[in-house]
Amino acid sequence: MFASLEELEHGLRETGYIADSVLHTTVYLAGKLHKPLLLEGPAGSGKTQLAYAVAGAANTAVERLQCYEGINEEKAIGKFDEALQSLCVELKAKTGDVDWASLRTELHSRDFFSAGPLMRALLWAKPCVLLIDEIDKVDQEFEAILLELLSEWRLSIPKLGTVEARSIPFVVLTSNEERRIGDPLRRRSFYLRVEHPSAEREAEIVALRTRGSSREFHSGMAGLAKALRGWSMEKPPSVSEILDLAQALKILGHEQVTPELRDVLLPLLAKTEADRKKLLLRDGFASLVYDAQQYTREALQGSAT
Ligand SMILES: Nc1ncnc2c1ncn2[C@@H]1O[C@H](COP(=O)(O)OP(=O)(O)OP(=O)(O)O)[C@@H](O)[C@H]1O
Ligand SMILES: [Mg+2]
Repeated sequence: MFASLEELEHGLRETGYIADSVLHTTVYLAGKLHKPLLLEGPAGSGKTQLAYAVAGAANTAVERLQCYEGINEEKAIGKFDEALQSLCVELKAKTGDVDWASLRTELHSRDFFSAGPLMRALLWAKPCVLLIDEIDKVDQEFEAILLELLSEWRLSIPKLGTVEARSIPFVVLTSNEERRIGDPLRRRSFYLRVEHPSAEREAEIVALRTRGSSREFHSGMAGLAKALRGWSMEKPPSVSEILDLAQALKILGHEQVTPELRDVLLPLLAKTEADRKKLLLRDGFASLVYDAQQYTREALQGSAT
């Protein structure tokens, strides 16, 4: 998928995805060795986005299977289009002379099969990115379906037969750890923990996403993020929430977070009642802003050296 590690790094950055060298190398090796990437980590930490960034960098498409409780093979792999099959039977019957054996074969051919994301991912001439998002929502039986696909790169479909891959997709599995993913799937994958980024990296992400703002503003957002995450909140803010905050401040015309902004910013920063109460405590928000300023200075010094 990528000719070199440098090409991959450059491509991801071009799409606006900022990552460290471990992530770059793991993605590169996963592509070379045809290993799925299993991404686990908190909500909003960039798991799903990584799949789109890899596709963008490789100039290819994403086939996405959004997992949910009760998902079945038909939704994931596909099914015969019964309406089309009946129509075909009706039309053939009208013409009179029907060879039922060959009609039966025809009705169970690829032409009458409506492919789901897993099958479509195998049919691309150029490797695509197959995103199996939130795999922790499915049960173990469904995981077993994926094993054949991820190790043999083919699917066995009743009545249709075996579908071999035209190209091997780059597979990204994401999980929020609601359920433990089974060991067989783990064994076949490269496992990456996607955590909240360092202050320097978060400042870079903010810089990329809120163009036209100053270095102090980017570092200020990263400093605030670090301070909030050090506050043992029930739901610490993720990168995506810090980006929302940065945009909100821009809209409101503020260059930094001050204690006076507490009430208007609470809905963006505290997403549970316990966290809201915590930030509402007397001096709570003011001391948070103080911590944030300390971290901001550190981040600015770090980026200056
Ligand atoms: N490393 C990063 N570089 C650039 N943007 C990022 C990065 N990490 C997160 N983001 C931003 O955060 C947003 C949310 O990320 P994403 O939807 O991928 O999170 P997620 O981990 O899949 O969350 P969830 O578990 O809730 O689905 C992205 O749209 C992107 O704007
Ligand atoms: Mg996601």
